[in-house]
Amino acid sequence: TLGRVIDSRDPALPEGEIVLHRHGWRTHSVVRPDEARRLPHHDGVPLSAHLGILGGTGLTAYVGLTRIAQLREGEDLFVSAAAGGVGTATGRLARLMGAGRLVGSAGTPEKVAYLTERVGYDAAFDYHAGPVADLLAKAAPTGIDVYVDNVGGDHLGAAIGVLREHGRVVRVGTVGQYNTPDAPPVRFDHADVVEKSLRMEGFLVRNHQEVREELYEFAVPRLVSGQLALDETVVTGFDRIVDAFLSMLRGGNTGKMIVRGS
Ligand SMILES: NC(=O)c1ccc[n+]([C@@H]2O[C@H](COP(=O)([O-])OP(=O)(O)OC[C@H]3O[C@@H](n4cnc5c(N)ncnc54)[C@H](OP(=O)(O)O)[C@@H]3O)[C@@H](O)[C@H]2O)c1
Repeated sequence: TLGRVIDSRDPALPEGEIVLHRHGWRTHSVVRPDEARRLPHHDGVPLSAHLGILGGTGLTAYVGLTRIAQLREGEDLFVSAAAGGVGTATGRLARLMGAGRLVGSAGTPEKVAYLTERVGYDAAFDYHAGPVADLLAKAAPTGIDVYVDNVGGDHLGAAIGVLREHGRVVRVGTVGQYNTPDAPPVRFDHADVVEKSLRMEGFLVRNHQEVREELYEFAVPRLVSGQLALDETVVTGFDRIVDAFLSMLRGGNTGKMIVRGS
């Protein structure tokens, strides 16, 4: 949550400052100084960027690409839930880092068009249009080097099938299974992992907060110059926050889902 300080006994957090805190969904919070992070002032960068590309969402994408995948220039990527917050950030950052071909999957034809027309993906598909393995094989006929996995399930199995030798799976999330905990386990060819020398690694962004300054150095000048754009769906009205959250889980958002209080 981003909030404006309206009263403070700490000179380091004066009235009027914008802070980020984790007290959850509320209009007013009483926070201790160590629970609120004062936002840096970057001229020309909208505040909402601190919830998206400069916030936990962008940091997840940045850590996934630089620390977990250790992406090298020219490498080809596949990203699932590509039109969401982490997915759009991953696509845009990977493009700026010199990635090769970018392939994404999303849940509607409109999102597929958004990925290729706006975010910079080279190819994208709607995962409802058939078996994911077939759709991915068609979209990435010569294979991929890195799979950024926001979804799990069939997407993960399909990606392992098309990864090249020394490919990496970055396990970011499992949104395809959050509402179906009884879903069958993911099926993939276990021999592939050995024969192609694959690596799969998961991570939690909260364990990589020290990378934030590096993300700022990379992203802020590019936001200011316009090389990097924001992808967000903004819902206005604090009382719509639960609906917005549930809508995000069902795919109602393109880019980061943000609720503006009023
Ligand atoms: N590891 C970490 O520290 C970390 C940090 C932040 C987020 N995450 C994870 O990263 C993933 C993305 O998070 P986000 O905040 O950026 O959310 P998001 O991608 O903006 O929103 C979730 C998206 O998931 C897609 N989705 C829902 N059900 C699906 C299904 N059954 N199969 C495929 N896609 C489905 C929907 O898009 P469609 O219309 O395309 O279906 C929806 O827009 C989540 O798994 C989240 O838990 C992990």
